[in-house]
Amino acid sequence: MADKQSQLNVGGEAFDFPVLEGSTGPDVVDIRKLYGSTGKFTFDPGYKSTASCESALTYIDGAEGILLHRGYPIGQLAEQSSFMEVCYLMLNGELPQQQELDDFSWTISRHTMLHEQLASFYKGFRRDAHPMAIMCGVVGALSAFYHDSTDISDPEHRKISSHRLIAKMPTIAAMAYKFSIGQPFMYPDNSLSYTGNFLRMTFGVPAERYEVVPAVEKAMDRIFILHADHEQNASTSTVRLAGSSGANPFACIAAGIACLWGPAHGGANESALNMLREIGTPDRIPHYIERAKDKNDPFRLMGFGHRVYKNYDPRATVMQKTVREVFEALNVTDPVFETALQLEEMALNDPYFQEKKLFPNVDFYSGVILSAIGFPTTMFTALFALARTVGWVAQWNEMISDPGQVIGRPRQLYTGPTQRDYVPVDQR
Ligand code: CMC
Repeated sequence: MADKQSQLNVGGEAFDFPVLEGSTGPDVVDIRKLYGSTGKFTFDPGYKSTASCESALTYIDGAEGILLHRGYPIGQLAEQSSFMEVCYLMLNGELPQQQELDDFSWTISRHTMLHEQLASFYKGFRRDAHPMAIMCGVVGALSAFYHDSTDISDPEHRKISSHRLIAKMPTIAAMAYKFSIGQPFMYPDNSLSYTGNFLRMTFGVPAERYEVVPAVEKAMDRIFILHADHEQNASTSTVRLAGSSGANPFACIAAGIACLWGPAHGGANESALNMLREIGTPDRIPHYIERAKDKNDPFRLMGFGHRVYKNYDPRATVMQKTVREVFEALNVTDPVFETALQLEEMALNDPYFQEKKLFPNVDFYSGVILSAIGFPTTMFTALFALARTVGWVAQWNEMISDPGQVIGRPRQLYTGPTQRDYVPVDQR
């Protein structure tokens, strides 16, 4: 950290504040003492100009369309790595040696089963419950079962609960799907890879042997990598805020899942495919582009635009390529992909989208792939939650390990009534 200073003029008086430098990216003005020195708060709803924490996990350069995990570009990780390797990297800071990767994968595979009583939770839901509703409930309930890993001040407890969450999330998500279609739950098969095991638990049935299709396994693993972490997004900030009070990790991740569900965040993949299906054929695209531009119409192009990226989301590039690979491997096609390609092209050539720097994001193409693999749209966000769990637990661990960590407690600009006296009901 450099000892640069920034002078701010507040109410006609000059105050000096330290400027902190990260390893890359914009400097930050440290205003922690602003209120104490000036009696004033900053106002930044949506945190458009506020860094809420220090983090060494993920770096995004939105203008250039760069995403790095622990310094490694997402494109390289997606092409050359595996989700297990990325999980290790996120949790430990460095890429593993082969033995470390084998040990880590083995450890994760030893935590894939759920406590048998958790299966009865599913039966309490309606069959048509959204998988995200089930995920919020079941993940939150894990804290009632794994008391031996909820002492957050103990690094070993934190490690075990992190492993448990990463390992159990595929089982929980697959069970949510199985419940919705009335098929028996499939127990994990630890001889398979993390992703192969998830595919079997989702699409396999006890009556038949399930063959994992290597190309689908690879594509799915890559989709998990693309969703592993994304800096201080809404759900990650939710996990951090929940965790800042000392809440246990299972409760914190359940809070993250709840936040991710929204259509402006993880729910956008479901909304994007629904939108593409509603558009149907390329000749209807101009109508939807006009609607997206109309200030009086709440419609937005789902899978387009991003708070941080003002350039092509690098994850969308990989996603688009993966669509083609999956179609080829499964020998399928989907007219919705053609609609998506043409919608992208028309939007990128439209001055509205150019001026506002709106580009496809990770969710624009992910639904097309997931649908080709066989997932119903309601499962899309659950898959996002599964993959993002590693980011959430890594961020949560980083926060708890930080000796300077304090409870998150934003302030406000109060606009309600000033103090007044209570009037009894018969005198109002
Ligand atoms: N379609 C049409 N107009 C848009 C869109 C869009 N998808 N996104 C932003 N705009 C316009 C918006 O109306 C605003 O216009 P103006 O300045 O005239 O008021 C301007 O662009 C800036 O938008 P904003 O809402 O202030 O930007 P934001 O940073 O607050 O929101 C966003 C980012 C992702 C919520 C938004 O772009 C959006 O709603 N996109 C569609 C939903 C979506 O795809 N979400 C997935 C995000 S990536 C996955 C994830 O991180 O979960």
